[in-house]
Amino acid sequence: MYDSSNRRIHYLRLSITDRCNLRCTYCMPAEGAMIVPHASLLTYEEIVQLVQAGIALGIDKVRITGGEPLLRRNVVDLVAALARLPGLHDLAMTTNACRLPDFAVPLKQAGLHRLNISLDTLDPTQFAAITRGGNLQEVLDGIAAAIAAGFQPIKLNCVITASPDEPDARAVAAFGAARGLPVRFIRRMNTAQGRFWQVIGGDGGHCATCNRLRVSSDGRIFPCLFNNTSYAVRELGATAALLAAVQNKPTAGTASANRFHHLGG
Ligand code: 5AD
Ligand code: SF4
Repeated sequence: MYDSSNRRIHYLRLSITDRCNLRCTYCMPAEGAMIVPHASLLTYEEIVQLVQAGIALGIDKVRITGGEPLLRRNVVDLVAALARLPGLHDLAMTTNACRLPDFAVPLKQAGLHRLNISLDTLDPTQFAAITRGGNLQEVLDGIAAAIAAGFQPIKLNCVITASPDEPDARAVAAFGAARGLPVRFIRRMNTAQGRFWQVIGGDGGHCATCNRLRVSSDGRIFPCLFNNTSYAVRELGATAALLAAVQNKPTAGTASANRFHHLGG
């Protein structure tokens, strides 16, 4: 699929839940996510149909995100169903890693190709402050479990305030280097104010080469994180919703009411 700016759109980012066991200050409101009523969530069957429709239109890469995707019940079954689809060359997940001690091996066996793990600091006090009460050790155990399960590559996402030279970011860089895990630095963004930057070491945030669509857990396809437009799969059908999102993908982001916990970072 090519959009009106001649960008090839082949990457679908799927949020499968808005819920999270952490509440990072830059991502979640303090009171937590508004719960999407269960009936509004796309079922796994609907998600697989949507991805199949996407593959027919040229999607070859899918990332499962949240919220925290490992909180959704039977997520391993979804991974297995997606991994079986012919035509999907890249199946990845973004997670905060807290539940990876239980899930790393089953996810690997289900056919997940790659993991991106959020890690902003190696200081337990700072971690608890950023995540409003999270336990850093759970994340470190999760990363160890992912390495032991044989995931390759495992990329670390590190949200920074201003520069990769700040002390927390440097500590994460050293942690990654010692284990052979690539680190990408993501400057803190604000969708409402339209503040966004390119990912340092990654390919996100560069409008001219943007190749993605985002799907919220309630099945709305967003052409852009920094735009409010969306197309509902249940209203339009998967193929029409995907085509409408591609045809109406803005040339560049501006600002939106989208929250990260809703559209998966
Ligand atoms: N700015 C930049 N990145 C964010 N993420 C969440 N909120 C923000 C924000 N305000 C990204 C982080 C995190 C992933 C789940 O979402 O990269 O690792
Ligand atoms: Fe949860 Fe990730 Fe958002 Fe933090 S950034 S609250 S871990 S979804």
